[in-house]
Amino acid sequence: MKVTLKTPEELEKMRIAGRMAAEVLDMIGEHVVPGVSTEDLDKLCHDHIVKVQKAIPACLGYKGFPKSICTSVNHVICHGIPSPKKILKSGDIINIDVTVIHDGFHGDTSKMYHVGKTSPAVRRLVDITQECMYLGIRMVKPGVRLGDIGHAIQQYAEKNHYSVVREYCGHGIGRVFHEEPQVMHYGRPDTGMALKEGMTFTIEPMINQGTRFTKLLPDGWTVVTKDRKLSAQWEHTIAVTADGFEVLTKRDEETI
Ligand code: MF3
Ligand code: CO
Ligand code: CO
Repeated sequence: MKVTLKTPEELEKMRIAGRMAAEVLDMIGEHVVPGVSTEDLDKLCHDHIVKVQKAIPACLGYKGFPKSICTSVNHVICHGIPSPKKILKSGDIINIDVTVIHDGFHGDTSKMYHVGKTSPAVRRLVDITQECMYLGIRMVKPGVRLGDIGHAIQQYAEKNHYSVVREYCGHGIGRVFHEEPQVMHYGRPDTGMALKEGMTFTIEPMINQGTRFTKLLPDGWTVVTKDRKLSAQWEHTIAVTADGFEVLTKRDEETI
């Protein structure tokens, strides 16, 4: 499949799917507290998507993924599987990644939550990772190249003595969950595909406290840091407009 440019009608559908995904992250926030299991969070999100939004949780059954959301705690980089055995405790951080399908189109977004009270070092990792995402988003406009965006994210992460995960990246999105292009969170300026109006893709940097190296657990999904240090991730779905960007999964709490 090639890169698909969305028509204004398709973009309107992407806006609706994006808003729904964002709304799930807003809804779940008050439930992310010590003592809750990641399975509890999955059930709340699943029921909200299916019963309230009348939408489809895109992760459920995707390439065999068994749950409706990804819940990635502490040293889990991404694709953590919700489980009744994983009980959150004060001091944990968790990424909740939600993708919904509505009217044939996907909205994909994730954010970090602090469980109870976390340390300043943990808050710094989470905040700098969010700023990495925003730096990338703010560069988006026609003519800018994907390598420019990756480079900006990598520079900021490494300047802050963190590392960028390379095995997983952002992606084009629309009727298809993961389509072209791949959006790397590292790279060289003036390289890669040039952005065009109507493109829609995610920016979702995964930033590690230690080295960038990853390990896939035997469950075939859970990706952890090789050194077991912490990792953080934030994600938005973006559209390229005539003169810049539109964040299709923006929450009210965000200014951007
Ligand atoms: N939402 C993830 C992403 O940002 C993909 C999760 S795929 C799953 O691309 F199968 F693990 F759910
Ligand atoms: Co994504
Ligand atoms: Co996602």
